Amino acid sequence: MELNQQLEQEFEKLPLKEALQLVAARFPGKVAFSTSFGMEDQVISHVIGKNKIPLKVFTLDTGRMFNETYEVWQSTANVFDLNIDPFYPDAQEIQDFVNQRGINSMYLSVDNRKECCRIRKIEPLKRALQGVAVWVTGVRAAQSVNRQNFKLFEWDEAFQLIKFNPLLHWTDADVVDFIHQNHTPYNKLHDQGFLSIGCAPCTRAVQFGEDARAGRWWWEDSKKECGLHQTKVLADITDPELTQNID
Ligand code: ADX
Ligand code: SF4
Repeated sequence: MELNQQLEQEFEKLPLKEALQLVAARFPGKVAFSTSFGMEDQVISHVIGKNKIPLKVFTLDTGRMFNETYEVWQSTANVFDLNIDPFYPDAQEIQDFVNQRGINSMYLSVDNRKECCRIRKIEPLKRALQGVAVWVTGVRAAQSVNRQNFKLFEWDEAFQLIKFNPLLHWTDADVVDFIHQNHTPYNKLHDQGFLSIGCAPCTRAVQFGEDARAGRWWWEDSKKECGLHQTKVLADITDPELTQNID
C-alpha cells in the first residue's frame, strides 16, 4: 500500500487528540504546528495545550496583523500556558522592500503582493520549519474549492516535509461547536463577519453565503493562496529518513 493511503487509513478515524498524540510520538521533537490564530488553529492549540502534547507551536508574525489577532495570541498563551514561538521577517529585507515599493504596495500589483508574502511569511516559515519532519496546519477542505483537493497527509515539495491537516474534514459547524462548547479563546473579528483572517491590509469581512476565503486579497482575481500551501501527493515521497518512521 502506498504511504499516503497507509497514513490516511491509520489517522482518518482517530479523534483529534489521539491523532496529534500519535504523530508527536512517531516523530519525537520533529513535529511543528503553525498557528495564525484562526478558528481552526484555536481548536488545535486548545487540544495541544490542554493535553500538553509535546510538539512545537509557532506563528509567523508578519508585522501587519490585526490587534485582535495579537489579543487572541496572548490569551491563548495565558489560558493554556502554551509557548507560541514567533518568527519574524528579515529586518533588512523588509526595510528595503518598503523603501523601494511603499508600505501598502500589495494593492498595486500581484508581484508586489507576492513579494510581501514571501518576505513576511514564506522566508520566516522556512526558518520555522528547519529540522521539522511533520508540519501540522489548520487547513480544511470546506475553506475553498481549491482546498477540496487537499489530503490529510501531503508531501510538501517546497519544504521537503510531510504536511498533516488534521481538521481537513471538519465542517464549519464542527469548528464553531468545538469553540463554543470548550470556551476556547477566539479572534473577536469573527463576531464582525470575518471568516478567514490574515494580515490586516489584505483581509476584510465577507457577506453571508460568500466563500470563506473571499475576504482574503479580495481585489485580486487569483486562487487566494499566498504560497504557504502548495503540496502534492505523499505517494511521491522519497526521503528514506521520513518513511522509516511511518510503517
Ligand atoms: S493562508 O495561506 O491563506 O495564509 P490560512 O489563513 O487559510 O492560510 O491558514 C491556513 C493554515 O496556514 C493555518 O491553519 C496555519 O496552520 C497556517 N498559517 C497561515 N498563516 C499563518 C501565520 N501567519 N502563522 C502561522 N501559520 C499560519
Ligand atoms: Fe503582505 Fe498582505 Fe501577504 Fe500579509 S497577506 S504578507 S500584508 S501581502
